[in-house]
Amino acid sequence: MSFLKEIARRRTFGIISHPDAGKTTLTEKLLLFGGAIQEAGAVKNNKIKKGATSDFMEIERQRGISVATSVLAFIYKDKKINILDTPGHKDFAEDTFRTLTAVDSVIVVIDVAKGVEPQTEKLVEVCRMRSIPMLVFINKLDREGKDAFDLLDEVEQKLGLRVTPMSFPIGMGYDFKGIYNIWEKKLNLFAGDKKQTVSEGVEFDDLSNPELDKAVGKKAADTLREEVELIDEVYPPFNQEEYLKGELQPVFFGSALNNFGVKELLDAFIQIAPSPQPKKAEERLVDSKEQKMTGFVFKIHANMDPKHRDRLAFIKVVSGVFKRNSPYLHVRNGKKVKFSSPNAFFAEKKEIVDESFPGDIVGIHDTGNFKIGDTLTEGEELNFRGIPSFSPEHFRYVNNADPMKSKQLYKGLDQLMDEGVAQLFILEMNGRRVVGTVGALQFEVIQYRLEHEYGAKCTYENLSVHKACWVEPTDPKNEEFKDFKRVKQRYLAKDKEGQLVFLADSAFTMQMTQSKYPSVKLHTTSEFKK
Ligand code: G4P
Repeated sequence: MSFLKEIARRRTFGIISHPDAGKTTLTEKLLLFGGAIQEAGAVKNNKIKKGATSDFMEIERQRGISVATSVLAFIYKDKKINILDTPGHKDFAEDTFRTLTAVDSVIVVIDVAKGVEPQTEKLVEVCRMRSIPMLVFINKLDREGKDAFDLLDEVEQKLGLRVTPMSFPIGMGYDFKGIYNIWEKKLNLFAGDKKQTVSEGVEFDDLSNPELDKAVGKKAADTLREEVELIDEVYPPFNQEEYLKGELQPVFFGSALNNFGVKELLDAFIQIAPSPQPKKAEERLVDSKEQKMTGFVFKIHANMDPKHRDRLAFIKVVSGVFKRNSPYLHVRNGKKVKFSSPNAFFAEKKEIVDESFPGDIVGIHDTGNFKIGDTLTEGEELNFRGIPSFSPEHFRYVNNADPMKSKQLYKGLDQLMDEGVAQLFILEMNGRRVVGTVGALQFEVIQYRLEHEYGAKCTYENLSVHKACWVEPTDPKNEEFKDFKRVKQRYLAKDKEGQLVFLADSAFTMQMTQSKYPSVKLHTTSEFKK
């Protein structure tokens, strides 16, 4: 198959949702369609237990299996589909943000009863900022939930999206009869007793056909006619270009658990979702069709075996063909590197491959040379951008609990930060180290891993910080900036890249500081510098 055909047949995406909306169930159903797994439950058994608040054995277990579920690839109707796993647990939101830099589109799953939930809002906001094409799947239609139109309104308002329904439910919960597929003008009726079977839709391009009354009953048929008419009047028609630009979001309804509406979603997805997209590097835009290989690390996963500190770095191929044993330039450290056993991922297994194409994810063994955001090329000095740091939510001082092991502690901290487990800030005033995390769980993970993988011990000390703000002076030489640095000295730190960060102890302080020093811009993500 030609290089261009290989690119055109790839779909690399992530599924995002608030925990419990049905991401795992939907993933599993997609894999079943692709023949990648034989039975339901295969992915499910691997998921982190819900509400695991402080159980790090659970985290350790999760670390092991999440290598297996990091990338789930399968072939469906000759398309190579790569699903990148996005952890639902909020303590791992940072991982999800980073994964979103490697997807070409996303599917947003929403629970029909719960509507738009906080985690969905956050993740969709990131996708919106990056104009990532989004499809929305409203799930659990077999249960009583919100009215479909109200839900569409909610999605538009809370998520700031512009939606176009591609399918519409007939009834809901106990009365759920099926889905009318607006996109293909097909009727799919629900057979509650035939769960797990895939029903083929019946063509139904004229809703005035009296057969519809026979199929779903007169009342439901009339309601559907009215609703579809309303949809035609109120919502914009589907437009591929707008969807690809992130300006229009098609919505599907269904029930992942009952395998309802999933095939419609997948069939529409492979038709409309983008193949690997061009990606911005600091220097230029890189097109996936370019012959020379470029790629970047979006995730690093430590191995489970504490005696071997090797890690798996996940590389998204942006352009060209990634070849086994070819020399590539590791741009950040200027060295040539070769990989004798690059892994490709299939559903739940990985194997060594000779060639990977744009859109694919390659896993390479790493002994500490890579960090998140690193770029590989055939020689060009390129740096892919767009892996921002967000302000952590929790902050603590790290103290060395074993003075004989300070080297191990610093090395361990450094490597864990490269993996993206947390962020490290070094205070300007006294050089003390502060760790910032998204969830409280990470502190335990760090302590545990420092001890078991690096033989170092640490303790924590509380520190009251509300947000880390990246500092951008309009003019680094002006008096206002000098004054800011002098007055706020105690709260200034450097992040791992050497960027100046202000650790604000409250929202009020942030506000006051910003109004007192208007020329010193405070940002809660590091992205402004890109
Ligand atoms: P997540 O990955 O987004 O966290 O959600 P997950 O797929 O685990 O689904 C959360 C719960 O919702 C599961 O139930 C799952 O079976 C259920 N679910 C998913 N899709 C549907 C659907 O279309 N209809 C209905 N009624 N339920 C659905 P659970 O009881 O928490 O887990 P389990 O005991 O079923 O494994």
